[in-house]
Amino acid sequence: GKVAVLFGGDSAEREVSLMSGGGVLAALQSEGVDAHAFDPGQRNLLELKAEGFQRAFIALHGRHGEDGTVQGALELMGIPYTGSGVMASAIAMDKITTKRVWLADQLSTPRWVSLRRDELQPERVRTVPDELGLPVFVKPPHEGSSIGASKVMGYSDMQAAVELAAKYDAEVLCEEFVDGAELTCPVLGEGVGAIALPVIEIRAEGGNYDYQNKYFTDTTQYLVGQLPPEEQARVQQLVLAAYRSLGARGWGRVDVMRRKSDGQLFLLEINTSPGMTSHSLVPKAAAAVGISYPKLCLYLLSQARL
Ligand code: DAL
Ligand code: MG
Repeated sequence: GKVAVLFGGDSAEREVSLMSGGGVLAALQSEGVDAHAFDPGQRNLLELKAEGFQRAFIALHGRHGEDGTVQGALELMGIPYTGSGVMASAIAMDKITTKRVWLADQLSTPRWVSLRRDELQPERVRTVPDELGLPVFVKPPHEGSSIGASKVMGYSDMQAAVELAAKYDAEVLCEEFVDGAELTCPVLGEGVGAIALPVIEIRAEGGNYDYQNKYFTDTTQYLVGQLPPEEQARVQQLVLAAYRSLGARGWGRVDVMRRKSDGQLFLLEINTSPGMTSHSLVPKAAAAVGISYPKLCLYLLSQARL
């Protein structure tokens, strides 16, 4: 039957989604799937039903796509979709709630302070590095791709960083900086059957894996499956626990820091609709175990459900 590849959307990650969805659409078509583009940023999602779409591949990122809202609409329309359900999507879209769930399951994540938009007085903001040390990562908790995020090196930069993050969210996440390696690990499947793909270590220019270095520069280095085997297994075990803790399904990608001083691992976040662009991480990890980009898309589509 007809498959809708949902991409574009109206979040701050629209541009990224256009790249992800374009890739997915072409790949599914190349495998003979009757796949069509559908941009919920330009059309009403409810038209999917009238147009006879039987499944949806979600290649949207961020709000209204990765956050449970689109998943809820598809549930109501009875159209099976790829990836996590409503609750896991909604929790994962909020980095603060995600951290609370992980802590409740004894999974380690960096310490943090969250500030509401009405708590951004300079006297209050100045106390954050006293609690968390410096640098501090300041992020809007509902955004992806580093949009609105800053690495704050000194007290004098805190105020501008929280105000930038507050442009995107009603709440600002200030997170302790973990000095070490930036790792990410994709997961496929669900529950006890979920499997972790190889771990990728990311080495971005100047240590800044920001929007530019994520999607546009070619200087970012990706070391795929190159950790010592027992070290990779330790990361994968944590990542699977983090994925199951949220009840994620289909696929996802968990971002982790490995502290240089003692090797301790810290969970940063989980992406329930990971990037599928030419620079993205899940396709690189899949390729390392012999799963081509089109085969990955076919597999994900085969897992679509209500
Ligand atoms: N939020 C982007 C799309 C990612 O995590 O891949
Ligand atoms: Mg993200």
